[in-house]
Amino acid sequence: MLRLAIAGDLHGQWDQADAQLLDILQPDALLVVGDLADGDVMLPRLLRQLELPVACVLGNHDAAKDASGRTLARMEQTLGDLHCGWSLKLLDPVPLSVVGGRPGSAGGGFYLSPAVKAHWGELSLFDSAQRITAAAVQAPADQPLVLLAHSGPTGLGSEAADPCGRDWKRPACDWGDQDLQEAIRCIRKQRPLPLVVFGHMHHRLRHGAGQRRTLLQDRQGTVYLNAACVPRHGVDAMGSAWRHFSWVEMNHLGVVQLAAHRWYSLDGAVINEQRLLDLQPALS
Ligand SMILES: [Fe+2]
Repeated sequence: MLRLAIAGDLHGQWDQADAQLLDILQPDALLVVGDLADGDVMLPRLLRQLELPVACVLGNHDAAKDASGRTLARMEQTLGDLHCGWSLKLLDPVPLSVVGGRPGSAGGGFYLSPAVKAHWGELSLFDSAQRITAAAVQAPADQPLVLLAHSGPTGLGSEAADPCGRDWKRPACDWGDQDLQEAIRCIRKQRPLPLVVFGHMHHRLRHGAGQRRTLLQDRQGTVYLNAACVPRHGVDAMGSAWRHFSWVEMNHLGVVQLAAHRWYSLDGAVINEQRLLDLQPALS
């Protein structure tokens, strides 16, 4: 069984306590969906120090309003081979392949910010989908494949509370990325795709409208998980610190057995769990 910890949009919230918590939890890998810290390279440096396999894709906030693209470049360079935008990352020795979606995305269909264009250049929706697809078909056929993106794909619903639904402005609409949906369509013609992980659309909806739906599974079995619990640092009712990770367990065939949001105390105890999908047999 592969055990994956997923950190939703960090927005500056990552520290040594998170690293120590991972030492206790011992997941096989960590996936990070971007929006690290508005251009602060300390966050990518901390991720680089982790000893477990890590894959990350940058988000829109990682440009830090620097339209020149230099901040994005610095963030990507500091992440080094942890960053997998438009590319394949093998999580050696873990038998799992991760392919990143379009980095720097702010969702909304297909929009390239000035910073993204300055750093990565102009490209079309289909160019972007083709890059993601080309990376995915390079992945070993005998390993499960995960797509890791900052913004999720279109097609997951148009209500504000849907995994990529626009909640800050009426009317609500599907705010996912069209290139990612197109890539998923092309990849699945060639191989199974058990899991798509993303962030960007925070769980708590604006205007006091409650919480977002964060997991969907489509008819082909692909699980879509929005990991953007923001803020991911907090305290429980007793004043003790907690940390959020989304947690996925997948068997060697790539079937997702468990997906949950978990809030941990710093000693690794689960304070609170929201189970989203559970195929595990009940203990008797
Ligand atoms: Fe974002």
